[in-house]
Amino acid sequence: MTKKNIVLGFALAAACAISALPAQAKEKLNVLCAADEEWCNLMKSTFEKESGVDVSMVRKSSGEIFAHIKAEARNPKVDIWWGGTGDPHLQAAAEELTTEYKSKQIDNLLEWAQNQAKEGDYKTVGIYAGALGIGYNEELLKSKGLPAPKCWADLTDPVYKGEIQMANPNSSGTAYTALATVVQLFGEEKGFEFLAGLHANINQYTKSGSAPIKASARGETTLAITFMHDMVKQVKKGFPIKVVAPCEGTGYEVGSMSIIKGARNLENAQKFAEFALRPDIQSMAEQAKAYQVPSNSGSTVPEGAPKLTEIKLINYDFATYGSSDTRKRLLKRWDDEIKSLPR
Ligand code: F6P
Repeated sequence: MTKKNIVLGFALAAACAISALPAQAKEKLNVLCAADEEWCNLMKSTFEKESGVDVSMVRKSSGEIFAHIKAEARNPKVDIWWGGTGDPHLQAAAEELTTEYKSKQIDNLLEWAQNQAKEGDYKTVGIYAGALGIGYNEELLKSKGLPAPKCWADLTDPVYKGEIQMANPNSSGTAYTALATVVQLFGEEKGFEFLAGLHANINQYTKSGSAPIKASARGETTLAITFMHDMVKQVKKGFPIKVVAPCEGTGYEVGSMSIIKGARNLENAQKFAEFALRPDIQSMAEQAKAYQVPSNSGSTVPEGAPKLTEIKLINYDFATYGSSDTRKRLLKRWDDEIKSLPR
């Protein structure tokens, strides 16, 4: 080998070594998302484009996310929990699974969103709100000759046997909101009597809260108990879904966001939190066919979003129903006394 060849060989080896060096590690953010998948994906791609941060986003239901972050508490891999009903966010705050972050935009948020933050000692904050309802497939209802329900109480009528779908309140924040709503409306004993009557008419308890109304749109169940904004999404897609605000009144959610205690990418989590509260970002929800009421007073409410001021809402007691004791106790009672009943 000539001297020239040796020098060339070294130069080549050095060039290869340099090109084999990893590119500068990209900034990261791990998000668990409990809103609808389409909206989760839009948030991910928009934030990535704007910040250059590499986002890993996984969709799970609210109760599942609570269980996930609790299980990982000693070694958290998730940085931020975006979306999902407010009760498990409050429970996470009380159990110190999430960390305090007071947004620079807090004063621009509507009262219910600020109240959620205060209730959770600023370890969570409201990002959207939506009311619970009864939805049904109008064509299916007609073809089966069933009456149109108007009230929660109608749902225990045996004519609806096998016709109603809702989620399991352990995994789903929507279904927990339903459980807490009937307990607040009727009192705990009567509320559980109602749930037992309802159980006799349920065809399936799904994992995700919005699954029942999607199934109703496809003609797989006649009735569904979900948030009204999830029903509106199906109406906008052209399905024959009717949205009912129950006559007795109904509960609602304050969809929330919380930064995980011990987040490895804390700065990016805070960056994402500010991004998610911005009016221009909240106003994008409609692009993903999400029809909740946004929490920033400067955001545009999506066309067709159920008007909370026109619905008979109960005075939902978030402090009680988002507390660890009450949530644990009611879920256990539902497992022991309702889920196990024959259908
Ligand atoms: O589909 C959107 C949505 O209804 C949100 O408004 C809500 O926070 C979330 O789903 C609850 O989902 P789950 O019931 O699966 O926890």
